[in-house]
Amino acid sequence: MSTKENVLGFLEANRGQSVSGQHIAQNLNISRNAVWKAIKELEKEGHKIGAGTNKGYCLWADDDILSVQGMLPFLADKGCADKIALHGSLTSTNQTAKEMALAGAEHGTVVIADCQTAGRGRLGRGFYSPPGCGIYMSLILHPRELPLNPPTLITALAALTVCEAIEAVTKKDPRIKWVNDVYLDKKKICGILTEAVTDFESGGIEWVVVGIGINFSTPTAAFPQELRPIAGAIFPDLEPTATRNRLAAEIINRFLSLGNQYEKKVIYQKYRDRLMMLGERITVVEANSTYEAVAIDIDEDGRLLVENEKHETRILSSGEISIRM
Ligand code: BTN
Repeated sequence: MSTKENVLGFLEANRGQSVSGQHIAQNLNISRNAVWKAIKELEKEGHKIGAGTNKGYCLWADDDILSVQGMLPFLADKGCADKIALHGSLTSTNQTAKEMALAGAEHGTVVIADCQTAGRGRLGRGFYSPPGCGIYMSLILHPRELPLNPPTLITALAALTVCEAIEAVTKKDPRIKWVNDVYLDKKKICGILTEAVTDFESGGIEWVVVGIGINFSTPTAAFPQELRPIAGAIFPDLEPTATRNRLAAEIINRFLSLGNQYEKKVIYQKYRDRLMMLGERITVVEANSTYEAVAIDIDEDGRLLVENEKHETRILSSGEISIRM
């Protein structure tokens, strides 16, 4: 770890409190000048560091720059920190994660970026990923470590994990729009894109990349015009009561432990309990047709059961289908 990262880690551990340069220097076994230089670098990156009452350094309680040091206090398994690759800007965290998976990255590797220049969504769409207000992360999973069958169960687990993490950190109550969009106050605040690579010979899945994009504090007016009717954020126009680092850590904790804790039946039960449109009229958009239906239930593999206007039941798999509420 660099001096700058060590100093940030020290300030994070004392967030909201003032610590003297001498105290930091002694604890990290570096000179006071090195502390000063590191503070200047951190300030340049945008960290909010102030002089406290005794003229020490104080990382403000609402400092919200994404960093591994900022996540560390909240990671259940501190060893996870070594597997987090944090970037300021990437084209797409899923793209980088796939390249890392191909190069042999370990199960549980997480790629996070402050912004994406070509964030990708489902069905070939883009994902709006501006800096400073979102969490764009991709987890690399190896099926032998997280044995979830069918693979679509991973997607359900991802949506469930995001909901439970948001609830734990913010006390809000997010819901799921099938198949894996997360909504709060009738606005989409998170999208999930799961991509898998199968072994050509065995047909088995080699690894899975789960991409999660969360609008954390994106102001309503910041979304492009066409997204405004549907897109929202956890803290759209009010002061966040948590940090992105805290929420990202909570998602990592839960994702890497929940899959082993919950059985398939439990995951789908909890997923179903969060589904927002059961019993309601929806519009099903397939590749070549669009029709009105009522969402009835999900089956034991997470497929959506709908009843069309002729009272026929249809079973929808996520593939090329989307629904409108
Ligand atoms: C959707 O809503 O259609 C899915 C959006 C998924 C966006 C996330 S952001 C992190 C990861 N990297 C990407 O390029 N996409 C996913």
